[in-house]
Amino acid sequence: KILANTVFLGKDIIYMTECHSTNEIALAKIKDGSVKEGSIILTDKQTRGKGQRGNRWYSEPGMNLTFSLVLAPVFISPQDQFDLNRMVSKAVKDALKLYAEGVMVKWPNDIVHETQGKLGGILIENSLTQSRIETSVVGIGLNLNQVDFAFPGPTSLAVLSGSQVDKWDVLNDILIEIEKRYIQVKKGKTDKLREAYWQDLYRREEWAAYEDDSGTFEGMVTGITEEGRLVIQKKGGKVNQYAFKEVKFL
Ligand code: BTN
Repeated sequence: KILANTVFLGKDIIYMTECHSTNEIALAKIKDGSVKEGSIILTDKQTRGKGQRGNRWYSEPGMNLTFSLVLAPVFISPQDQFDLNRMVSKAVKDALKLYAEGVMVKWPNDIVHETQGKLGGILIENSLTQSRIETSVVGIGLNLNQVDFAFPGPTSLAVLSGSQVDKWDVLNDILIEIEKRYIQVKKGKTDKLREAYWQDLYRREEWAAYEDDSGTFEGMVTGITEEGRLVIQKKGGKVNQYAFKEVKFL
């Protein structure tokens, strides 16, 4: 299948029926110089899919979308690397709007339905120098047509919309949106991206339950710092900033 609606993303698709992890394959190919920017590694089945926080990513073979995109975002400095997360999660969210309502971004870069659970996730692995991001592997795993899950929590586009979706259509729509955001940031319009990410955020300015080092608490997400930390106002208490892994959504 030809993905024709982008300028440079996904023009080169490396498809594997099975692999351990598309992120690992992309990293290896960057190392040996056999991929260029915009290439994607796509598979039907991962035997050792990687998730955030060192977790595994499980996905029913053949049912879902599992791929990694190779970027060279040299115009983004290491201290701004969270902009890549913003860019990709906002883009995925916008693409999925075409298939289901109520899709949101949960900090830092989970794709969730506002009430029905997690649709997918993003794992970005950057290679940095002092001054810039040399390469970035953007791994995206999304539940499309899977309707049975081994444990509660996840959902899929098919569950939400009641019908099966075409994997290639979704892939194409996602690449179009990522490319748009990528060009936006390349042109220096980072503020627009940051605002757009914030506007779409799950539980933005709502009271909800969280857990940190000191236990569980009621809090309200009131912002995201430039570096991507989550700002939470504790009910009757102070405002805290959290890095990834320092706070849990309950
Ligand atoms: C998460 O934990 O939410 C992130 C999941 C990221 C999974 C994707 S699937 C394609 C790519 N290859 C991997 O090994 N992981 C990412």
